[in-house]
Amino acid sequence: MNNQAIGIFDSGIGGTSIWKEIATTLPNEDTIYLADSKYAPYGKRSKEEIIALSIKNTEKLLELQCKIIVVACNTATTNAVKELRKRYKIPFIGIEPAIKPAALQTKTKKVGVLATKGTLTSELFTKTSDLYAQNIEVIEVIGTGLVELIEEGKIYTPEMTTLLTSYIQPMLEKDIDYLVLGCTHYPYLVPILKQILPKHIIIIDSGEAVARQTKVILTKNNLLTKNIQTGTHHFFTNGKLSILQDILKASNIPTVSKLLDF
Ligand code: DGL
Repeated sequence: MNNQAIGIFDSGIGGTSIWKEIATTLPNEDTIYLADSKYAPYGKRSKEEIIALSIKNTEKLLELQCKIIVVACNTATTNAVKELRKRYKIPFIGIEPAIKPAALQTKTKKVGVLATKGTLTSELFTKTSDLYAQNIEVIEVIGTGLVELIEEGKIYTPEMTTLLTSYIQPMLEKDIDYLVLGCTHYPYLVPILKQILPKHIIIIDSGEAVARQTKVILTKNNLLTKNIQTGTHHFFTNGKLSILQDILKASNIPTVSKLLDF
């Protein structure tokens, strides 16, 4: 069991930003990544649809013999991880917007959260936000269209800059000092965000925390790999292979990627 791979899934290529953190924290582990791009974006879908897609992805990763599953998608976590944990015995790691660290550190008491509609309207997000941001104003903005552009490989485009600027503007008017990226696709937008945002605004995401938590849970369950060599990595997509390959190449991730129907 120990030498089986860590399974990771997202609605598309965005979760590769989480994969990077996992591969850095756990360099000897093998990984299998599923980009469910055919059904992206999840953010517009109903809770029931997101649960059904998350079950489909989980079944595929179990078929591929994964020992643990990282739901590298805020939308899938906030809508479906509870159901996945009920149905399956293996451990699941989820990802949620990093409201807690932002709420603890903000000086202006105003925090911006950019995420999908599915995440911002979920019960889990509302609970977390109520718990940690009691004395803080949280300015929530739905990033409509951002995932679609990233999935089409259109990151550095005028269209993307215009959309991002329009989403950030209401946050700037409220004087936020922290911007929480509540979608695993968004770390790929950081270079553009840095051009738009005033220097004092701190951008945070949950990638590192997810990787740390994956290590903690593998250790607790006695599931850490016995491999001493660097892990091997397989990336699968049911969308456009070239889009996945481009993002992997841009991030210097040398690996095997393939089309797979799931
Ligand atoms: N990466 C997903 C997330 O973290 C994107 C959601 C979508 O497909 O809309 O929420």
